[in-house]
Amino acid sequence: MAKPRIIVTRRLPDPVERRLTKHFDTVFNRDDVALTQKALRHALSDSDGVAPTVSDRIDAEVLGVEPLRARLLANFGVGFNHIDIEAARTRGMAVTNTPGVLTDATADLAMTLMLMAARRAGEGERHLRAGDWTGWRPTHMMGHQVTGKTLGIIGFGRIGQAVARRAREGFGMTALYYTPSPVSGAAADGTEACGSVEALLARADFVSLHCPGGGATRHLIDSDHLAAMKPGAILVNTARGDVVDEAALAEALATGRIAGAGLDFYEAEPNVHPDLLDQENVVLLPHLGSATEETRTAMGMKMVENALAFFAGKTPPDRVV
Ligand code: 8YV
Repeated sequence: MAKPRIIVTRRLPDPVERRLTKHFDTVFNRDDVALTQKALRHALSDSDGVAPTVSDRIDAEVLGVEPLRARLLANFGVGFNHIDIEAARTRGMAVTNTPGVLTDATADLAMTLMLMAARRAGEGERHLRAGDWTGWRPTHMMGHQVTGKTLGIIGFGRIGQAVARRAREGFGMTALYYTPSPVSGAAADGTEACGSVEALLARADFVSLHCPGGGATRHLIDSDHLAAMKPGAILVNTARGDVVDEAALAEALATGRIAGAGLDFYEAEPNVHPDLLDQENVVLLPHLGSATEETRTAMGMKMVENALAFFAGKTPPDRVV
């Protein structure tokens, strides 16, 4: 029997590409440039499944009205707000994702951003590399202590919980969380639930975002919520770009309303709001949350498992729809 044909939209770690080649008639994007909407549409018409990433916008228009050959969207990544899930469902397509394997890497990066923003690490490195460092002095580049402070976590799924563990066990922090979803007792052990985002913002020295992106959370952190943060607080975003109103954040940073921010996501990735690029008190990383060799390989292997199950007529382990 012919192998199912899968079109992979970006380069993947070598072991993942080798495994895909073994099981599928695989088409790779050797140039590793994001596909245009037209190329995506073509991929969906010319394959049994497409393996997209966050850099592909699979909306109702790309899915179109004509029946497509592709029956599976095996997403490489846990977040799937770049895919119109309802449109895929109504066209009878299955969508899978890769949860679990990127929890630790993403939580580690949230801690990296928190520490970098609090201790002015990016600013300090730029200062040194520019040759502006004239030597040690007691008042040079004082930042904010992380140890023992209060962390507010918005969105308390796997990654939010992993950040809470790191903050509590590694840094002696008090961990608060807000989530509209139920949380099991064990997951919440040692942390404190807040009844609203406002209640959390009023107490947190650091606010870390771990909610999904998309409609319901768009601009959750807007000028009102930035104003509700403690003066001198620090915001960290390893969730999705649209959760934060970037223009409002740039203003809060410029006026010193909040002390700093650490961002791994942007509203119009890969473009960053120009007013943020002007600010010294914001750490800007290029969507590195899951970017370790181990994690990206594990994500790819999970994606392959989902595709193998789907084309074997079984329910894929990480089926979203
Ligand atoms: C991925 C992510 O690298 O999995 C996610 O949701 O945000 C990232 O860490 C990326 O989205 C891959 O598509």
